[in-house]
Amino acid sequence: MIELNSEWNDYWRTARGERREVDPTGTDAIAPFFLAEGPAPGGAESVLDLGCGAGALSDRLIKSNYRQSQFLGVDLSRDAAYMTASKTKGLAIQGDLAKLPLAANTIDWVVSQFALEYASFNAWAEAGRVVKPGGRLTVVAHANGSFIYTEHEKALVDFRTLDQIIQASVKRGPKGEPVAVESEQVLGQAIKQLRAMVGDQSGGLARSMSDALLGVLTQWSDGKDLPSSNELGSLLRWLTDYKFYKGRVESMLRAAMTPSDFMGVQQSLVNAGFTVRTAGFLTAPGGVRLGFKLSAVKSA
Ligand SMILES: C[S@@+](CC[C@H](N)C(=O)[O-])C[C@H]1O[C@@H](n2cnc3c(N)ncnc32)[C@H](O)[C@@H]1O
Repeated sequence: MIELNSEWNDYWRTARGERREVDPTGTDAIAPFFLAEGPAPGGAESVLDLGCGAGALSDRLIKSNYRQSQFLGVDLSRDAAYMTASKTKGLAIQGDLAKLPLAANTIDWVVSQFALEYASFNAWAEAGRVVKPGGRLTVVAHANGSFIYTEHEKALVDFRTLDQIIQASVKRGPKGEPVAVESEQVLGQAIKQLRAMVGDQSGGLARSMSDALLGVLTQWSDGKDLPSSNELGSLLRWLTDYKFYKGRVESMLRAAMTPSDFMGVQQSLVNAGFTVRTAGFLTAPGGVRLGFKLSAVKSA
């Protein structure tokens, strides 16, 4: 029985249900590292994408250099595996990274973008086990203190404030459903607070959420009417999205690795017969730290 990571599972289920194109980790900024570290296309007959999500990384690699390679995605979420398979027109399976259903020494290039750190430590050993002698392992993982990490921390603070605003400005029915907006005074205060928050945020993450809520609340306050059922519907939808977004933010903060975790991973790969080619912080232009990067080759 596979134990699911419920935050991600819900996320992919909803994205698949709504046929949404999603790339939660921003592959544009990360893919150049994989392309720089990848083997020559002829040396990558098989590529395994661990924690493939909706297949954003595999898709990018296939389109860039690796059209001839056979890609396989693995993710704990069945919906994610389904989305990867349809995006790449290839294979993807549901599985736990800590217990890969694959034979040892079988894959030319194992890649993983912000996923191994969500699984137990054994996932790193498993990633190394399936690499063919002479093959490569290329990984990007969340780092404690990276730009992404601190943005998530800020988002969590914003979410707490949003929670208070929502609780204060929405009157609920017997089943907890929002039925009306509280007094104009409370609403006015909520809008002021949200405007300040949106102004503070550097973009992404909580911003689109608070923008959306600000829009709904401003509309109600301008109209001075009780919201229509349609608007209530969008608030309800917003509340659901927000809860599940918050869960993912929390799970990322828990998963992020410290430098000593990262050193431990490198040591375990060296013990398993790998030579580390590249290890350190993955940075965006301007030196902004996005996470840890690691690329290693298994001795032939
Ligand atoms: C941050 S997302 C990254 C997804 C994808 N690599 C991307 O960059 O778009 C983390 C992924 O790891 C998957 N995941 C978490 N724990 C896992 C585990 N134990 N086994 C397999 N997949 C796991 C989640 O379902 C999710 O799809």
